[in-house]
Parts: sequence; C-alpha cells; structure tokens
Amino acid sequence: MDINFIGHATFELSDGDSRVLIDPFLAPNNPAAKVSADDVDPTHILVTHGHADHVADLVPLAKRTGAQCVALVELANWLDEQGVENVSDPNYGGTVEFDWGWVKMVQAFHTGTLPDGTVVGGQAGLVINFGGTTVYHLGDTCLFGDLKLIAERTPVDIALMPIGGHYTMDRHDAVVAADFVGAGTVIPMHYNTFPPIETDAEAFKADVESKTSSQVVILEPGETHST
Ligand code: NI
Ligand code: MN
Repeated sequence: MDINFIGHATFELSDGDSRVLIDPFLAPNNPAAKVSADDVDPTHILVTHGHADHVADLVPLAKRTGAQCVALVELANWLDEQGVENVSDPNYGGTVEFDWGWVKMVQAFHTGTLPDGTVVGGQAGLVINFGGTTVYHLGDTCLFGDLKLIAERTPVDIALMPIGGHYTMDRHDAVVAADFVGAGTVIPMHYNTFPPIETDAEAFKADVESKTSSQVVILEPGETHST
C-alpha cells in the first residue's frame, strides 16, 4: 500500500486499483497541497468531520468521480442534500466494508460546523483496514485516554496523527497519544499549513522515538510512504 500525504490532514491510500482519499482539502484551497481536485481520482472518500480544511473539495470531487463517500450520519445526510450520490452513513462504532477492507468510525474530540455554517456536530477518527494493514487517521482531536482502548481493539500499524496544536492536540500531547496508540509507524499531520499550527515535526519525531516504541515518518506534502 502507498500512503500519499497530500497535505494538512489529506491522504490517499492506494494499491493501484483502490484509491481511498481521506478529508479532501486540495490546492488551491489547501495551501500545503501540490495537487488540485482535478489531479486526483479516488474510488472512495472517507471524511472525519465537516470543517472546511477537511471537506473544501468534497462535494465537487465526489460528484465528478462518483466515489463512494463515508461520513458520520449527519454529515452524510448533508452530502445527500448537496446532491452527492453513493454515501454511506455510519455513526460511532459503525464499520463499512469494501472489497479492499473496511473503515470503522471512532471517537474524536473536536467540533463540527460545516463551511455553510450548518452545525452538524460529530467528528470522527477513522480506523481503516486496507489490504490487511491498519491505518488509524485520528481526525482532528485533543488527547484523550480512549485512544488506548481504540488501539487495543484494533492494533494499529500506521497512525496519522495531528501535532499542530491550536485546533488539535499539540506535538507534546501527541507524544502521549503515540504512546497510547502504540503504532509501529506514526506520520504527523495537521501542522504548518497555517501560522497557528506551526510546529517542529523533527522535535516530535525525536520525542516519540526516545519515549515510545513507535517510529515517526515525516512526509512532506506530495511524498509517499509505502508498506
Ligand atoms: Ni477541524
Ligand atoms: Mn482541521
């Protein structure tokens, strides 16, 4: 599997046939991204929550590609109202299955106003099994103790973890989160996109690798980690 870091919280998991895009926020909306919505061709789109830095390109991209979308039920209903077809609408604890694996919606502590001002609440983390590899996209969240429980239920190979602070946990709390999740590999995200979330990813890497058993892979936007 290839994990392409598009930038901010946007990733694409791919085995060539299935292309799973998480939180579509692309250029020029996403100042970190090098590719626009015209440059991606997802078969599936998974969404953590409705903030603009996670869904700015979602509706037009879903309509153009016909990709199957997965989002918490209120956000899924909003997508229906926008004319997006092929939407799955789980709630926390729900698992949606595909030919490449599955995604389970898990807890994240955050808020949930849509770009049009609609307050839908509900913000998820995504535990994804892609071809037998478990990837946990934490979504936007602060540190919370049940990260440990989530990873205990489904051991995590690769954690995609926010470290930027201000809107999510910062790099110091994320070291504790990395310890709780216990993934083999941690890939930091949701930092350096905007001034309030500037942080030192190399310092995060040094702290995680000295205090936990995880290894940190820092990806620049556009770079890919292959398993
Ligand atoms: Ni957010
Ligand atoms: Mn965000």
